[in-house]
Amino acid sequence: MAQLVIGPLLRYVSETEATIWVETDEPCEVEVLGHAEPTFTVEGHHYALVRVEGLEPGSFQEYEVELDGERRWPEPGSDLPPSVIRTMGRDKPLDIAFGSCRVALPHDEPYVQSKDQHSDGREFDALRVLAKEMVRDAEERENEDRAKWPELLFLLGDQVYVDEGAPQTREKIRARRGIDGPPGEEVTDYIEYSWLYRESWSEPLIRWLMSTVSTSMIWDDHDMSDDWNISRSWVEEMNRKPWWHHRAVAGIMSYWVYQHLGNLSPTELDENEVYRGVRGNPCAGDVLRDWATDIDAIGAGTRWSFCRDIGGTRAIFLDSRAGRTFTEDRRAMVDDDEWDWIVEHANGDFDHLLIATTIPYLLAPALHYLEAWGERVGDGAWGMPAARLAEKLRRAVDFDHWASFSESFAKLTELLKEVGSGERGKAPASIVVLSGDVHHAYLVEAGFPPGSAVESPVYQAVCSPYRNPLDESERRVIRAAFKRPAVAAMRGLARSAGAPAPGVGWRLRDGPYFDNQVATLRLNGREAVMQLDKTVPGDEQERRLECVFERRLA
Ligand SMILES: [Fe+2]
Repeated sequence: MAQLVIGPLLRYVSETEATIWVETDEPCEVEVLGHAEPTFTVEGHHYALVRVEGLEPGSFQEYEVELDGERRWPEPGSDLPPSVIRTMGRDKPLDIAFGSCRVALPHDEPYVQSKDQHSDGREFDALRVLAKEMVRDAEERENEDRAKWPELLFLLGDQVYVDEGAPQTREKIRARRGIDGPPGEEVTDYIEYSWLYRESWSEPLIRWLMSTVSTSMIWDDHDMSDDWNISRSWVEEMNRKPWWHHRAVAGIMSYWVYQHLGNLSPTELDENEVYRGVRGNPCAGDVLRDWATDIDAIGAGTRWSFCRDIGGTRAIFLDSRAGRTFTEDRRAMVDDDEWDWIVEHANGDFDHLLIATTIPYLLAPALHYLEAWGERVGDGAWGMPAARLAEKLRRAVDFDHWASFSESFAKLTELLKEVGSGERGKAPASIVVLSGDVHHAYLVEAGFPPGSAVESPVYQAVCSPYRNPLDESERRVIRAAFKRPAVAAMRGLARSAGAPAPGVGWRLRDGPYFDNQVATLRLNGREAVMQLDKTVPGDEQERRLECVFERRLA
């Protein structure tokens, strides 16, 4: 009899529809609330994305999952609250939890220690503590009121780490092929990716959280490879490694199956040619592999960016990793077609416009200038020996944010200015760029030059990590990067290499904060509030999230 391997994951949710994703251990028919879907099979693994339609707007509906007519979710004897679908409603207040970077590690010694106490210590997973608070809340309210639960969860990159944590996966890799040859303990193929996803999403509280809060997700480097697409020379170097393309194809296939598919609405799924070939197909692996091999060969050309309309709010998820393009004289964060798609989707009348991009657009200012300097020097502004050193530095300290893609930074700045000044529709009550990646959290407010007529307040909200904190020496560097002496010095350095001025200013409102943490954007009509919560050590029963700051954005 078929069993669940991963999930159920509640993915796309609109006013009347929802999709629920599962992985099962054998081919079967998956049924949720009377809606059935056959599995498709990739490399011996079985999946289904069940569509539930005809739901009441602004409602909640408990659900179960049946495999071939047998109830498999909730698990027998589970004391977690029932999983629910909460549909969107036009006037319903909305809480969006967001953040990034979550290594898969058990919650026992030494993993719950701090990184300063033990090199494997990563403290407590903020999403697991969030789930615990939701369960506690349900018990106190006898499941009656789910208003305090976030409706949406944005996972902004490093959902899985090919190269870190996940001790069960590493153990299996050692047993399967040994780790003497490159790339050692890193995952290399679809099977190893499937282990990694299973280890990352199977912890009981995480599993329950993902069954009940609608997730949207977009990848960052560690979902594929550390420093993924940081520069042209990185791409050339990886192309020479014999194992790289095997990994890249598996990374694309598994990202599509585990993460991307659930980002799409039922209408988008119907229009998706790849999904049409995969849906219900017992040999879907062949279809996916051919397609992923083509994508890997051309480097760009596929749009991973997607869009969600939630009440009056539009969220554009801007892929800032996979679509990067590098030529002799150009570095671009996304290819031209994808950028046109993004611009087109920024048109309209929105209460709020959210742009989710894994890597921050506005960094700690000293880091911004340093990255802008690095791009110029890497491009040869100070000659070739300096360019080679700049490339080394770029990889060593991850200079791969928007600041190091000056052309794309300028385009995004221009787009925000146009939206904020009402040139592309009614000026939204707020424009918020949501990011992760940098393993600290902060809120900055952007200021545009006089005369730019921007009415909307524009923010960069960053939250990272869910579970992967910096050590104390790394934290010191980040704190300094927000302070005046470092900013002035780095601005001078950037100018000396001819880096363009950013064309936008930004002021720190809150942060930086460094714990394992989760942020929430609370939207109510044209009001918006950002809240940051961090984990605090404590025993299992006592553990809670602690509010670090709450700030009204609009
Ligand atoms: Fe990360």
